[in-house]
Amino acid sequence: MPVVTCVEDLREVAHRKVPRMFIDYLEAGSYSQETLAANRADLQAIKLKQKILVDVEKRSTATKILGKPASVPLALAPIGLCGMQRGNGEILAARAAEKAGIPFCLSTMSVCSIEDVASSVSLPFWFQLYVMRDRKFIKRLIERAAAAKCSALVLTVDLQVIGQRHNDIKNGLSVPPRLTLPNILDIMTKPRWVASILTAKRRSFGNLAEATAGGDTKSLSIWIQNQFDPTLNWEDVKWIRKLWKGPLVLKGILEEEDAKLAVKHGADAIVVSNHGGRQLDGAPSSISALPKIAKAVGKQVEILFDGGIRTGQDVMRALALGAKGCMIGRSYIYGLGAYGEEGVTTAINCITKELSTTMALTGVNTIAEIGPQVISK
Ligand SMILES: Cc1cc2nc3c(=O)[nH]c(=O)nc-3n(C[C@H](O)[C@H](O)[C@H](O)COP(=O)(O)O)c2cc1C
Repeated sequence: MPVVTCVEDLREVAHRKVPRMFIDYLEAGSYSQETLAANRADLQAIKLKQKILVDVEKRSTATKILGKPASVPLALAPIGLCGMQRGNGEILAARAAEKAGIPFCLSTMSVCSIEDVASSVSLPFWFQLYVMRDRKFIKRLIERAAAAKCSALVLTVDLQVIGQRHNDIKNGLSVPPRLTLPNILDIMTKPRWVASILTAKRRSFGNLAEATAGGDTKSLSIWIQNQFDPTLNWEDVKWIRKLWKGPLVLKGILEEEDAKLAVKHGADAIVVSNHGGRQLDGAPSSISALPKIAKAVGKQVEILFDGGIRTGQDVMRALALGAKGCMIGRSYIYGLGAYGEEGVTTAINCITKELSTTMALTGVNTIAEIGPQVISK
């Protein structure tokens, strides 16, 4: 692996190695991508405050997330079709997370199944749930996550309907990829990707196999479109809270009143998130939504954050504004597409080192010490 110094390096390599259709899927925001752009712009606009001449030799990035020790306040966010960025992608990412000592969250829309991942790692991981119309199937999915000893259920609450991503429609995104002439020509230039996909355990949605038995790709995508449940509401959260005995995380909260309702409905943690700018276009950036939510419910529930985290400086900004930990999405997927498991490890290491250095330069020694004092007013 050539010298990689930051997540941006991994992004460039991933763009060369992964077929266009899946890079477009990864990079996209919904519609005009205003919220996607705001996630990065608003993070970068927050200036950090230098603090000199503090002894920072013994500083540590170690912390706890959902009550479990983590080497750094990071978790790998649930990413649909992760296993299309690199064959067995979810297994590779879960292994990298385990080695790094941070949580991995498996998406409902993953290629590797809950059981595939469970048999490939030794520590529990989190499972992210999308709610479909077929509630018996959802109940079984929750039972499968419990049987696999998943340590948290992350219920995504911002995707009852899908925000349109223009390129996915133009590219005819399908799983496995549809072999149109442009797709074939593009894929032919990505031999390592082809090899990884051909030797992978699965090439379709692993968790949904039972519900889609016998269905071809086309009917599968139609099945998905028809199955996401637009009726999802707080009563369903109550139902899920009863079914799932472990920690419940509600992901996709941007407003105080929803954060308060999440607490009322028994959430152990919330993720302040706009789905990486992929759902409500025109919604505020995640970082701009964070302070008011932290103020409203920060003492009652653990607050996680995602949206635009590319560096350790970004993690510092989110922690300073009230997050207990950050989820990273695209940042680790760039690593996965570029260099597989090693690339995910590299992404985590880059962000960890940046955070450690940023702690030193802002004069803090522990994650618990990070607060508004590190922000330059
Ligand atoms: C390609 C892609 C697929 C995603 N799939 C899911 C998913 O299956 N479930 C989910 O809850 N969130 C999903 N998300 C949202 C991420 O979990 C996370 O909220 C987002 O990526 C954070 O923004 P970042 O990519 O800028 O770090 C996806 C995001 C991307 C970029």
